[in-house]
Amino acid sequence: MIKTRLTELVGLKYPLIQAGMGPYPVTSLCIAAANAGCLGLCSTYGVQSKEAEPIVYERFCEEAHASVDDDPVTITKKMFRRVFEETKESQGIFGANVMVSTEVLENARMVTQAIAELRAESPEMRERFKVLVTSAGDPMPWGKYVEEQGMIWMHVFPSVRAARRCKKAGVKVLIASGHEGGMHTAWQPVHSMTLLPDIVEKFSDENTLVVGTGGFCDGKSLAAAFAMGADGVQMGTRFLATQESDFSKLWKQMVVDCQDGGTLVARGFVGPARLLRNANSLKHAYDTARLAPGSYVGVPDDYSTIPMDLLLYARECVAACEKGDAEHAIAGAGECAQRITDLPTCAELAERITNDAEAILKGVAAKYVVD
Ligand SMILES: Cc1cc2nc3c(=O)[nH]c(=O)nc-3n(C[C@H](O)[C@H](O)[C@H](O)COP(=O)(O)O)c2cc1C
Repeated sequence: MIKTRLTELVGLKYPLIQAGMGPYPVTSLCIAAANAGCLGLCSTYGVQSKEAEPIVYERFCEEAHASVDDDPVTITKKMFRRVFEETKESQGIFGANVMVSTEVLENARMVTQAIAELRAESPEMRERFKVLVTSAGDPMPWGKYVEEQGMIWMHVFPSVRAARRCKKAGVKVLIASGHEGGMHTAWQPVHSMTLLPDIVEKFSDENTLVVGTGGFCDGKSLAAAFAMGADGVQMGTRFLATQESDFSKLWKQMVVDCQDGGTLVARGFVGPARLLRNANSLKHAYDTARLAPGSYVGVPDDYSTIPMDLLLYARECVAACEKGDAEHAIAGAGECAQRITDLPTCAELAERITNDAEAILKGVAAKYVVD
């Protein structure tokens, strides 16, 4: 059993966060992770995609047990009510991943309003729906909301500069996002091995926890995160490839089949994205190099300077992956996909990873510490 400041702060059995993974809500995965004793997160940025991405919208309605005629506020509430009901027995802890970048700000405002209304309904809801993970944007404007809500605030960011802003904004748990991570990744590439210890050294203190994300998938990488001073890890790709994960069979299989060097980066809808390498993602990467080269040199572009077709191609291929259409599919996943070879349940995964990390940490002390 590994206890850390993260397990103590949030009330978890394991120091593991299941990452929010859009565009789908990952409701079933959030439920399974929370029931297993990890922090479960639903992603929320696709809930307003009725016209733009019908397949995403339908999945939101389906997983929320909502009607397609419900409005986004109602769908959001129904989604979290379902998580609350299905984690009652285990008293699992859950939260929302809300992307706050400019492109999706309107959605973030709607979702946070829905969350506030839902949490106002009952103390039981507030007790277990207690974490807000903001990502992909500036944390500063969200401090007042989190304070009013009394939620535990975590923010995902890719750099020391962004961490400084988190600290100023009052973020409690800094989630340092290394460039090897799946899907949304930073313009300026810094990987976990460099970023995580840098953030720990500069920002971890009695009021601020640090969690690593990007590349963590097993006992070895969890033990490494602890060795670097982290309080826990957030995993996306590893949780994607589990029995309960909401991702399509094809998507999970593509992760399991991923070979050495099997990912690349290309322009995603919200900044650069790490994708599994296949003919479609390779075409998209070449197009990105021509039309959105900032993705490869750490210079952000915005929707006004790149052709919409570039983004629509990626979106269509991601939708094809969800529909099981292998010929046209693109799947988002992190570099660690090449180390993932199975589809365990969330409970099996959490136990295995933490048991392995514990054994590794003890073994390291025995092997390397003299006297
Ligand atoms: C398929 C997929 C979708 C993702 N979607 C989101 C998202 O909607 N919002 C977000 O903040 N991060 C998103 N991420 C990033 C994860 O939250 C997490 O930071 C990342 O997966 C960590 O790296 P790992 O994949 O190596 O575990 C996504 C990751 C994957 C693999």
